[in-house]
Amino acid sequence: MRKFTIFSLAVLFLVGACAREDKDLSLLSPDGKSEVRFLLKNGQPFYSVQSHLTPLLSESRLGFDLADQKGLKDHFQMIHSRYTVRDTSWKPVWGTDARIRDHFNQLEVELQTTDSLARKLTIVFRAYNDGIAFRYIFPKQKNLKNFSITDELTQFNFSGDFSAWWNKADFDSYEHLFNHSPLSKVPAANTPVTMQAGDNLYLSIHEAALTDYAGMTLKQNSKNKTHFECDLVPWPDGIKVKGSTPFQTPWRTIQIATRPGGLIESHLIENLNEPNKIKDTSWIKPMKYVGIWWGMHINKYTWHAGPKHGATTKRALQYMDFAARNGIPGILIEGWNRGWESWLSGKNVQSYTKPYPDFDLKRLAAYAQKKGLYLIGHHESGGNVPEYESQLAEALDLYQSLGIHAVKTGYAGKMHPAGQHHHGQWNIRHYRKVVREAAKRHIMIDAHEPIKPTGIRRTWPNMMTREGVRGMEYNAWSEGDPPEHTTIIPFTRMLAGPLDYTPGIFNIKMDPTGKHRVYTTRAKQLALYVVLYSPLQMAADLVENYEGQPEFQFIKDVPVNWDETRVPDAVIGDYVVAERRKGSEWFVGAITDEQPRDITVPLDFLDAGKTYKVELYRDADNADYETNPTAVTIETFKRTSEDELKVHLIKSGGFAARFIPEDQ
Ligand code: NOJ
Ligand code: CA
Repeated sequence: MRKFTIFSLAVLFLVGACAREDKDLSLLSPDGKSEVRFLLKNGQPFYSVQSHLTPLLSESRLGFDLADQKGLKDHFQMIHSRYTVRDTSWKPVWGTDARIRDHFNQLEVELQTTDSLARKLTIVFRAYNDGIAFRYIFPKQKNLKNFSITDELTQFNFSGDFSAWWNKADFDSYEHLFNHSPLSKVPAANTPVTMQAGDNLYLSIHEAALTDYAGMTLKQNSKNKTHFECDLVPWPDGIKVKGSTPFQTPWRTIQIATRPGGLIESHLIENLNEPNKIKDTSWIKPMKYVGIWWGMHINKYTWHAGPKHGATTKRALQYMDFAARNGIPGILIEGWNRGWESWLSGKNVQSYTKPYPDFDLKRLAAYAQKKGLYLIGHHESGGNVPEYESQLAEALDLYQSLGIHAVKTGYAGKMHPAGQHHHGQWNIRHYRKVVREAAKRHIMIDAHEPIKPTGIRRTWPNMMTREGVRGMEYNAWSEGDPPEHTTIIPFTRMLAGPLDYTPGIFNIKMDPTGKHRVYTTRAKQLALYVVLYSPLQMAADLVENYEGQPEFQFIKDVPVNWDETRVPDAVIGDYVVAERRKGSEWFVGAITDEQPRDITVPLDFLDAGKTYKVELYRDADNADYETNPTAVTIETFKRTSEDELKVHLIKSGGFAARFIPEDQ
């Protein structure tokens, strides 16, 4: 392995500016710490990446196999290369930071095959301080019009057997636990896949701007176990992607940071997406919500009509009154519409416009408006996408006419038609269509069983949040989410974008038979509101479980939209401390895995010279993971930026704290 000095990197950047005979071009990040190199060897394109003097990806192939045509993979010559620099900033409609800097160096490499077809392929590389990205562009050209990609040949040939946190590859679901192993033990993985490459070096592979393409998974090379290949989710006929020129692929992204929290603070994925397309965003509202939801998962209610029907007018009014009293703007109601009897039966056929007789949709929508609340509608397609699409316009029109500005969508079930996958190009087009159609009608989306986030929220800020994670519901009816689960999610799935994990279960041991529970303390549930980011954030428990509980105050107070985010201290899979600011207030959340631990937070993020009132919610001294997981102690005291906050977390415990400056 080659070691670079800073000096030689600088030289490479300079010589890279003119295409050398051996077709070896280099691009450095603005801070000079990361480098991507492009190589054309015997007509075949390759790239390699190194950062902080450490090789991350050794020579890895680039290109495509196409059906019925020669691929776009070899016999290339370089026609042109161009370096550019950009340094701008932009303001997201909502998010984890109020302003985002978009600063990168770019290299565009134009290739053309030497045969008579003279097919063209451009590869664009970007080097940011927080990572490397590249995408392919198929320019408009005479000898390549319609095409079918049978294989994307992009490789990720890691330079070592890095320690990896990964979710097994699945073309239909991201709802799995995370594994932690050396790369050589990873057969195939969904992205993001996160790795540690050195004492102070972390990276994560994902993609950005996945709009009309197949989702990417990584598959281990059969010969070299630290080498991986892009494995795209296929159409039923085996083709991976169908398109016509001009065309561009999503970005392949390599996030790089010297601390685990640096990966979370990065905006690489959003920066690689196009600017906001929605002019009037006044109707887009990040908010907390309650819902008729957990009751179905714990089998207290049913989605379908009958004696245990959850979505009755009476219960909806109860939830709305609770929300109004507690300043929670949103109410999700699932199981309101006819057809739930068919869900998971093999073919889901629901009406997205006709309510069950015991649910007065019009009256409830009017009541919500009167109370200043947001009803969150629900469409469960059960995977029957053609049926859902056939009703989509009418269903969204109905919500628009009733002043309903948000809908949770669902695809829980086997995809129809058979052979299509949740994460294939066909369904990615569908997901995108729903976002666009909803935007036209001023409706926000919370998608479950979605395609993973790839930064689309920058372009379509009505694409608020999504599942694509093994969320809270698993505690209700499976062996559950183990204590370490939420200490891995922030460094894997959450790097892709916001997640609707649905925290906030107060009744931790909710199952009288003892078979199921939530595998945390109640204080950790509070901390999740700071650790896990979602612009639509649920208070997921039955509303009656919040009545009279003083610690519900934290859920009422915690924002869902932030001006600043820092994650200074974390060990992936062990613990996380997240610090977020809204206006002049700071919120801190800390969680631990199955190990109790003492957390010390330096309060250097507070304004110097100011005194802050701290409201701390922690595991009580008599709290116990098994016998007393709900005991929370609330303390208030004063602190300044010179101080520290020391808190003991019990097994799968946590704390949440609010810092209010005294001069407010
Ligand atoms: C699975 C979703 O994740 C869950 O939130 C929802 O309640 C059910 N599907 C029913 O739509
Ligand atoms: Ca789900």
